[in-house]
Amino acid sequence: MILAHPAIEKSIGNKIISNNFDAGANTELRHLDLLYPDFNIDIKAEQEALLNAETIVFQFPLFWYNMPAILKHWIDKVFEYGFAFGAESILNNKKVIVSFTIGSPVSMYPNEIIQKIVFPLQGLTNYCKLQYVGEIFCNDINGYSEEAKQNAIKVANTHSQKLLDLISSPS
Ligand SMILES: Cc1cc2nc3c(=O)[nH]c(=O)nc-3n(C[C@H](O)[C@H](O)[C@H](O)COP(=O)(O)O)c2cc1C
Repeated sequence: MILAHPAIEKSIGNKIISNNFDAGANTELRHLDLLYPDFNIDIKAEQEALLNAETIVFQFPLFWYNMPAILKHWIDKVFEYGFAFGAESILNNKKVIVSFTIGSPVSMYPNEIIQKIVFPLQGLTNYCKLQYVGEIFCNDINGYSEEAKQNAIKVANTHSQKLLDLISSPS
C-alpha cells in the first residue's frame, strides 16, 4: 500500500484503512509522508517495493479532486522510463487498486466525477501495462461533529473491508 496523508495523526479514514491493511499477512505499508518528509524519494527502494508486490494499492484522502502532492511526485519519480515503461514493462500485469476517502457527501460525487478523479491513475496503469482492478472510495469522512466522526469511523471500516476483500479476490 502506497499511502499519502500529510497529517495521519488527525486522520479518521486513512488511519483506519491503512492500519487494517497493515495488520494483514504479506502486506507492506509505505507511508510516503513519513518516509520522505522532504519529498526526497529513494527511487530504487520504491521500485524494489513495487517489484515485490503482487497488488499495488494507492491510498489517499481526496485533495481538490486529486491525489495529495507527494503521491503525484512519487509517481513522477518512480515510474521512470526503463522501469515502468519502455522497451519492456517490468511491472507487467501487477494489479492496481485506487482507494481514497472523500470529505463531502455522495451527492457531490456522482460516478462521472469519480471517473475523472481516477482517470490519471487508470491512464498510468494502462500505459505501464499494469492491471487496473478498480477503485474503492467512501464519502462523508470528516470530523465536523462527534456524530459525523462516529459515522466516518463506520464508513471507513466498511471501506476497509471492501478493500481487503478486493485484494484477496482472485482476478
Ligand atoms: C487540502 C485539502 C483538500 C481537500 N479537497 C477535498 C475535495 O476536493 N473534495 C472533498 O470532498 N474533500 C476534500 N478534502 C477533505 C478530505 O478529502 C478529507 O478530509 C479526507 O478524505 C478525510 O480522510 P482522513 O480522515 O484520513 O483525513 C480536502 C482536504 C484537504 C486538507
